[in-house]
Amino acid sequence: MVDAPDKIAIIDFGGQYTQLIARRIRELSVYSEIVSCTEPIDTVLRGGYRGIVLSGGPSSVYEDGAPLPAKAVFEAGIPVLGICYGMQAMGYLLGGHVVQSDRREYGSAEVTLTGEGALLRGVKPDSDGRLGVWMSHGDSVTRPPKGFTSLGTTTNCPVAAMADDDRKLYAVQFHPEVAHTPQGMTILANFLEICGARRAWSMASFIDTAVETIRAKVGGDRVLCALSGGVDSAVAAVLVHRAIGERLTCMFVDNGVLRKGEAASVVHTFRDAFKLNLVHVDASRRFLDSLRGVTDPELKRKRIGAEFIAVFEEEAARLGDIPWLAQGTLYPDVIESVSFKGPSATIKTHHNVGGLPTKMRFKLVEPLRELFKDEVRRVGELLGLPPGIVWRQPFPGPGLAIRVLGEVSEERLEMLRDADAIVQEEVQAAGLERELWQAFAVLLPVRTVGVMGDFRTYAQVIALRAVMSQDAMTADWARLPYDLLGRISNRIINEVKGINRVVFDVSSKPPSTIEWE
Ligand code: XMP
Repeated sequence: MVDAPDKIAIIDFGGQYTQLIARRIRELSVYSEIVSCTEPIDTVLRGGYRGIVLSGGPSSVYEDGAPLPAKAVFEAGIPVLGICYGMQAMGYLLGGHVVQSDRREYGSAEVTLTGEGALLRGVKPDSDGRLGVWMSHGDSVTRPPKGFTSLGTTTNCPVAAMADDDRKLYAVQFHPEVAHTPQGMTILANFLEICGARRAWSMASFIDTAVETIRAKVGGDRVLCALSGGVDSAVAAVLVHRAIGERLTCMFVDNGVLRKGEAASVVHTFRDAFKLNLVHVDASRRFLDSLRGVTDPELKRKRIGAEFIAVFEEEAARLGDIPWLAQGTLYPDVIESVSFKGPSATIKTHHNVGGLPTKMRFKLVEPLRELFKDEVRRVGELLGLPPGIVWRQPFPGPGLAIRVLGEVSEERLEMLRDADAIVQEEVQAAGLERELWQAFAVLLPVRTVGVMGDFRTYAQVIALRAVMSQDAMTADWARLPYDLLGRISNRIINEVKGINRVVFDVSSKPPSTIEWE
């Protein structure tokens, strides 16, 4: 048996940095989980956590219905670290003094350290005894509860951090998890030390545990996995394959709106290199037929989604009895459904073409449920997946159908594929692939006049879209170097027949979206 990793709970009060806290703790090699503040505290305390972090959040402790943790969290003998709102909640519930303020302190601040102790071990202030931190709060603790000492102050915040070493209760008003608090990681590492958490969580250890868990879960049954070519389903498939080998069958549906060479590369990687049992369904014809005459973007999504389900059901029926379905669900999807604020509007509100028929009643294996995207990539690397898959940019389920604006035809798809392949090649050659959230070509439904040699042309336009983003909720257009733009434009116009103009999209999200349809 592989030992279960030591873990830390982060109770989420709706803070914008909650996921970041979880990631930072994992970067320090300790497994962390986000728990909704609506979860009964008894359940949390029985969860076997080495320590508990109370996250930030938008509320004031004095607000009606403010989400306050049960006091039992401070009495269980488990170390607690309150961050921002978590500190105010700790201060308020334990009898300190918290003042409300309509003046928000937001941005960099300097903490003058006035105390020391386990939480600040190794933290090095500048020669004036100050520590640079990132603040974002309205209310402040003005007097710590009994038993606590104040560790520092800022001009706006009388108690910027406080500690009760005997009860192992700690709090910071600033955000140690953000990069703008340069020594934040030392503070978080100190907290983990105080918790006695073993720093043993790594993706290699994750793989060992996941393989055992998958084996125990599915027993001698067969498992089906739908491969999209994206990193999540690829890593899930290879992990399940490592656990149960031949008993995994993967299905890859070519919907006819994939990028250039994509289907061949998926088949090569998984069938030839990884020796997976791969069923390759070329359903392009069917998908393209269902898109004939369709120009409305939402209708395109619906048609592709419905067709996918039909194909999947038909093909799965041929494969005999397979009770399990492996899916590449990631931690952010899981947390979203438990979040204090309730599910927020994200990528998932899109009709997801990977969405599988609910009536098929598969039992689910979701081996990546605990991981963030960067962790999945690391697992992919450790499992030997090629960089092209591990670092693949997000690609929408409806594929190129929503990038050929207007009606989708084979001819227009071909034109877009060739143009897009040039974008991919040039972005890669410029070494920008990992920095950009997405970079792609869009085929516009207009023609413009041009001149080639002695001839006037009246041909198609490609729009180039390149964005930087953290999570696709917001995005900024990428400031691509002019040289790169020039090369892409030249090559597309010279190499792709039927295109005589390339434009660059300089809109951010919001108010624009990343995709054009
Ligand atoms: P937008 O265009 O809404 O896209 O800014 C945000 C992110 O979602 C992807 N996207 C989709 N993914 N099915 C998907 O699986 C879809 O219908 C879909 N539409 C957009 C888009 O590529 C971007 O990463």
